[in-house]
Amino acid sequence: MLEQDVVIVGGGLAGCRAALEIKRLAPDTKVAIVAKTHPIRSHSVAAQGGIAASLKNVDAEDSWEAHAFDTVKGSDYLADQDAVEILTKEAPEVIIELEHLGVLFSRLPDGKIAQRAFGGHSHNRTCYAADKTGHAILHELVNNLRRNKVEIYDEWYVMKLIYEEGEAKGLVMYEIATGRIEIVRAKAVMVATGGYGRVYNTTSNDYASTGDGLAMAAIAGIPLEDMEFVQFHPTGLYPVGVLISEAVRGEGAYLINSEGRRFMEDYAPSRMELAPRDITSRAITLEIRAGRGVNADGSAGGPYVYLDLRHMGREKIMSRIPFCWEEAHRLVGIDAVEQPMPVRPTVHYCMGGIPVNTDGRVRKNANELTEGFFAAGECACVSVHGGNRLGSNSLLECVVYGRRTGRSIAEYVQGRSLPEIDEAVYKTEAQTRIDQLLNQQGTVRINTLRQAFQDCMTSHCGVFRSESFMAEGLEQVQNLKAQYGQIFLDDKQPQWNTEVIEALELQSIMAVGELILTSAIQRQESRGSHAREDFPSRDDEQFLRHTLASFDGEQIKVEYMPVVINRFEPKERKY
Ligand code: FUM
Repeated sequence: MLEQDVVIVGGGLAGCRAALEIKRLAPDTKVAIVAKTHPIRSHSVAAQGGIAASLKNVDAEDSWEAHAFDTVKGSDYLADQDAVEILTKEAPEVIIELEHLGVLFSRLPDGKIAQRAFGGHSHNRTCYAADKTGHAILHELVNNLRRNKVEIYDEWYVMKLIYEEGEAKGLVMYEIATGRIEIVRAKAVMVATGGYGRVYNTTSNDYASTGDGLAMAAIAGIPLEDMEFVQFHPTGLYPVGVLISEAVRGEGAYLINSEGRRFMEDYAPSRMELAPRDITSRAITLEIRAGRGVNADGSAGGPYVYLDLRHMGREKIMSRIPFCWEEAHRLVGIDAVEQPMPVRPTVHYCMGGIPVNTDGRVRKNANELTEGFFAAGECACVSVHGGNRLGSNSLLECVVYGRRTGRSIAEYVQGRSLPEIDEAVYKTEAQTRIDQLLNQQGTVRINTLRQAFQDCMTSHCGVFRSESFMAEGLEQVQNLKAQYGQIFLDDKQPQWNTEVIEALELQSIMAVGELILTSAIQRQESRGSHAREDFPSRDDEQFLRHTLASFDGEQIKVEYMPVVINRFEPKERKY
């Protein structure tokens, strides 16, 4: 059996930042990162537009309080305000720390870190490295992991969280290259596996974003918080769905409909294209529904709107947002200097997740904490984003809460001994599961089942939702889930069997999708990204609370947890 003091699942920003903090505070602690890709290929690397902090380099009027208010208002008042206060107060310090680690931010002429406008933020506070901010940060963090002797198990898939009587004790992991199964025990386990964009058929997320950490926790019996809040980024490049950063609008691009009109003046006149994402995604969807979307020949009635950069000029486009220009050029043959880009909402971010306190400790339920179990980043719900995250707050969450979680783990493991685990039981169970997958004599292809599931989630739990349609969707996804035992794999070899990984990921996708739909059906109001056509208003009396959804055998149980409100009283949200 392998042994570590701390084992972290996921090599993105939150996991790497936590690992570095543990090593900084307690250098003798044995820390390992286990990830199904190399850390450099974690989805954090794809983050484009930036990371928010009230550094005041561009706008002297900014403050952490203003950042906190924007975040809470953006969340439609569902964020926990104690967690938001920590996020926004610690933001300037973590940016400077990143710079000292070697991150190359874009600069102002006076040499200070540059800051740009972003949706829902009342001041220009988003620090950036052109439109490759995640890339710049992740590379430096991974370099620092090496220097700090963090052990890396890359291309290992974690099959199971070992969680007994309220305590996380280790992991069951599968080496993709060989098919070998190993059990690792640890004094603390942290999950930092990112989001679940691949539960849907169109997403800005990479292929690895299949919600494995969320599913792993849920299958172990831990509730997931606020899963109904799925963020649609307004500007996914049509038809592929990849991200065209909000930075493009932050730098001045317009959204226009088939009539050539900047339609955001009808939806958020004071913020226009820089309204929060929930509002902008709904606006685009309504324009398309009303027949003011665009077709490939430029005629009205099509499936997308235009993101128009033409007035910005080549020099600005190429220096501030070169990657977005390149994406449009390479993927859909558009030269954005000369032509508008086709865009529509794409699934981008998971506001909900594994419930944690502000030290990254996972909650067992509304009142109790687990032992030895921690989470941070997109897979966790602390909750700083509530019903809708503001752009550039997610990299910030990864770094602030990655660091805090690292700190609390470093303290937690001091003086603890390794837990007892019956290695043989877990190894046999995992091997049986793999053998079953390899030998299953079904008739259903993984790809067909996954596509049907993703299509169902997309059509039944999208930007707008209603009870009857979601209930129909839930029935469909449950039927699809029942077909999982019928999948078959062509590849029977243990080495590099990517079909095995796809089969395991499909189980994650299905668990997460069912929790999203169930939580969404129960929330009978509209708040943030959860827009119910049958309950169009926010209902603070009944639903100013967090959802906790958990598996209870085959059923899903839904409970609620209070929201922390200590500074900003909920008000009507207008922009
Ligand atoms: O639009 C973007 O660049 C995305 C940023 C974010 O999700 O924070």
